[in-house]
Amino acid sequence: MGIEIKIVPDNAALNRVAASEFQNAAESAIAERGWLSVALSGGNTPRSVYSLLAAEYKTALPWDKVHIFFGDERHVPPGHPDSNYRMANEALLSKVPIPAGNIHRIRTELDPESAASDYENQLRAQFGLSKTDLPRFDLILLGLGDDGHTASLFPGSTALEETSRLVAPNWVEKLKTFRITLTLPILNRAAEVLFLVSGQGKAQILKEVLGSPGAMEFPAQRVRPQNGRLLWLVDHDAASLLPLESQPNL
Ligand code: 6PG
Repeated sequence: MGIEIKIVPDNAALNRVAASEFQNAAESAIAERGWLSVALSGGNTPRSVYSLLAAEYKTALPWDKVHIFFGDERHVPPGHPDSNYRMANEALLSKVPIPAGNIHRIRTELDPESAASDYENQLRAQFGLSKTDLPRFDLILLGLGDDGHTASLFPGSTALEETSRLVAPNWVEKLKTFRITLTLPILNRAAEVLFLVSGQGKAQILKEVLGSPGAMEFPAQRVRPQNGRLLWLVDHDAASLLPLESQPNL
């Protein structure tokens, strides 16, 4: 399946479209399988999407059938300001009627290696997988870092080349810290991957990542679901350096 690029006027529009993509994925997954598996992204961009879901989809979505996972996590305690879990909990999970058992947190109180193995076991348990099967997420939300990283798959980092583990600890030299991240085999097995990219600050890297189709220079370029939808949802400012033909007259 090809790359879909949807350019919207601004961050508010991006939040609305992202929330409706979430709802669409939920409706079809729950109709087909009885539950939605979604991996949330960390960082700043998705926070306002999560807030909109909490504000406008509290009763519109059957949260008891939604299972929340995380695409990656910083190796900090769950209450730490840098915690992706904390961000998602404050913006969304603590504000909607989702059972605690449906929130699958990366247990960063463990060392990075144990946290990654534990999370792989959590995935296998919830998806009901054998030792060799791979989970197929209904929806994975991702962001784009200034260096072209996504989830916690940073350029030149070991987890980027992981081919068998579902979840890997990843030392990020430039941040001098560990992250725990879903690996490319999992990202590329998803039914839908939704990149959220907002703001002028992302225009240059977005141009480099989307400007040369087929290139595999940046980690984000290596996210190509084999049998799934790949949607880049970007706002006008982030898209400002993309070739004009990909910029509908907004
Ligand atoms: C994280 C994210 C990471 C993020 C990008 C973009 O834990 O930081 O998962 O991949 O999506 O760094 O972050 P911003 O949305 O803050 O620009």
